[in-house]
Amino acid sequence: MNPERGAKIALTGAAGSLAGDIIPRLLDAGYSLVCVDRVAPAESYGQEWVITEVTETETLVDAFAGCAAVVHLAGIPLEADWDRILTANIDGTHSVLDAAHRAGVPRAVLASSIHATGFTAVPRPGELVPDDTAVRPNTLYGVSKAAVEALGSYYSDRYGMDVICLRIASRFDRPRDVRMLSTWLSPDDAARLFRAALTDSGHGFRIVWGVSANTRSYLSPDAGRAIGYVPQDDAESYAKDLIGPAAPSAAAETDWDRQFIGGVFCSPRPPRHTDMHPSK
Ligand SMILES: NC(=O)c1ccc[n+]([C@@H]2O[C@H](COP(=O)([O-])OP(=O)(O)OC[C@H]3O[C@@H](n4cnc5c(N)ncnc54)[C@H](O)[C@@H]3O)[C@@H](O)[C@H]2O)c1
Repeated sequence: MNPERGAKIALTGAAGSLAGDIIPRLLDAGYSLVCVDRVAPAESYGQEWVITEVTETETLVDAFAGCAAVVHLAGIPLEADWDRILTANIDGTHSVLDAAHRAGVPRAVLASSIHATGFTAVPRPGELVPDDTAVRPNTLYGVSKAAVEALGSYYSDRYGMDVICLRIASRFDRPRDVRMLSTWLSPDDAARLFRAALTDSGHGFRIVWGVSANTRSYLSPDAGRAIGYVPQDDAESYAKDLIGPAAPSAAAETDWDRQFIGGVFCSPRPPRHTDMHPSK
């Protein structure tokens, strides 16, 4: 029997960009969704929506009732001031996991990030960074994702919840610079990754890289394979657009990219959420 057909899952951050990639693919696979976000969606997908802050734990306990899993994407996805990061990403994740535990939800899939360990050195050619390499955050955002992982580990060990943290690398429609020839996660592979995390028959706490099958990837595929994630896209097909005389200057590899897996987010002025979304 197909475990995805008719399974009800909750998805936080459902009005966001990553959710926009994966929701249609989850619906095609047969899931029904309880979509949670602080803002009303542009597209409802014909699913149930709960408009709330993720720190409203009691509301989440009700929203999560009867769900087989919670996929937690809500949060600030780039560098920001500590008070905003603390509330949205750390208090928010605690609230989501607490509500999932109280609602009896057996599994949580958490959006972590490469920036939880962004100051990890780019490995030598032929070597790979393990999925669960130690945290080396490069931003306060990265610190919050390390806390997301720690909270997931705690709820797994303390309460027996299956928790899979996805260390998403660079999720874009297509790779935008030379670094992403190594770190790109395509929209289709993102959906494959979340579906694997939702259907994996294993138990306990896991950390998995969120990356496509890039020829130049330096992120280990091992934990992904172990949950049945089989990426099919390769950033290499875009290499000719990003390398060479015709490539845009913004695509060039920086010293930060050569040194650390978190690239320019390791610089003294990492890109901020407000640079990219001035209204938020
Ligand atoms: N996009 C990437 O390449 C990437 C890489 C690594 C990790 N991630 C993680 O994936 C997740 C989704 O990223 P995205 O690119 O879709 O970001 P996004 O900003 O497009 O979406 C985040 C969503 O969360 C909602 N949200 C924020 N704070 C909330 C709160 N307190 N209560 C309820 N809802 C709240 C927002 O309204 C938004 O709809 C984030 O946790 C991000 O850190 C993304």
